[in-house]
Amino acid sequence: MKKYLVIGNPIEHSLSPKLHNYWFKKNNINANYSKRKIDKSEIQKIITEIKDNKLDGMNVTVPFKSDVIPFLDTLSEESQITQSVNTIYIYDKKLVGHNTDIKGFELSLKETQFDLKNKSIFILGAGGVVPSIIYALGKLGVSKIMVSNRTKQKAENLKKNFSNIEVVDWGDQPEFDMIINATSLGLSKEDEIGLNFKNINKEKLFYDVVYNPKETNFLKTGKNLGCRVSNGKMMFIYQAFESFKLWHKVKPEINEELKKFLDL
Ligand code: ATR
Repeated sequence: MKKYLVIGNPIEHSLSPKLHNYWFKKNNINANYSKRKIDKSEIQKIITEIKDNKLDGMNVTVPFKSDVIPFLDTLSEESQITQSVNTIYIYDKKLVGHNTDIKGFELSLKETQFDLKNKSIFILGAGGVVPSIIYALGKLGVSKIMVSNRTKQKAENLKKNFSNIEVVDWGDQPEFDMIINATSLGLSKEDEIGLNFKNINKEKLFYDVVYNPKETNFLKTGKNLGCRVSNGKMMFIYQAFESFKLWHKVKPEINEELKKFLDL
């Protein structure tokens, strides 16, 4: 039986095992996927398990997506540029790090049918997932990417790899067509972003990378303004879909039954 694992800290909330094990069953793949909460000091040991064939592949989640990089043999171009790895596999006896968050974000946007060509995008946050979002947006032909973060220096640091972004002071609100909440504000139902969105027209898209709760206050605000809203559910499903394809060379099905099963 093949074995897969997601590492992170915290990890209790991760739905990856539920999703991958569901797809194993549906596709008659003899494999098991589990989760493990680890400390940073344990990364090397766990990665050795893949080299020793005790594990067949691994997903990496917060906060270790960059920390795993020194222990890998090669990185895909996407992982290299974003310095973020969420999927590890073996190719030609080499440990390869890849980033499927980018494709996950891209495919989730496609599903919203929001036309991104020549649009201005305003990103709140500068944490682990933001480089992947910027990379994907760059490919989709947007005209402007603005980033605002409570700790401004972290947003400024993103310019090293993404010279095309503009940094906006935290609390300021520029003109935008799409706004993305990539902060961890919203994980708790009481969280408020603290921006005043009065006088916003209905053509905007509010996107939250959070999918639990399903509707953060940020998305409620967008909805009340009559704007389009999307949570991080499809990004989560599509990043897993891309990892699954890489590992098993099978395209798993994404349908209503699956969404119901995940209760997302
Ligand atoms: P990390 O920063 O370790 O990558 P993350 O969960 O990926 O962690 O990112 C958390 C994001 O939410 C950061 O952009 C963080 O802002 P700071 O860089 O200033 O910490 C943001 N964030 C978390 N709590 C916040 C709050 N109360 N107000 C504003 N932004 C917050």
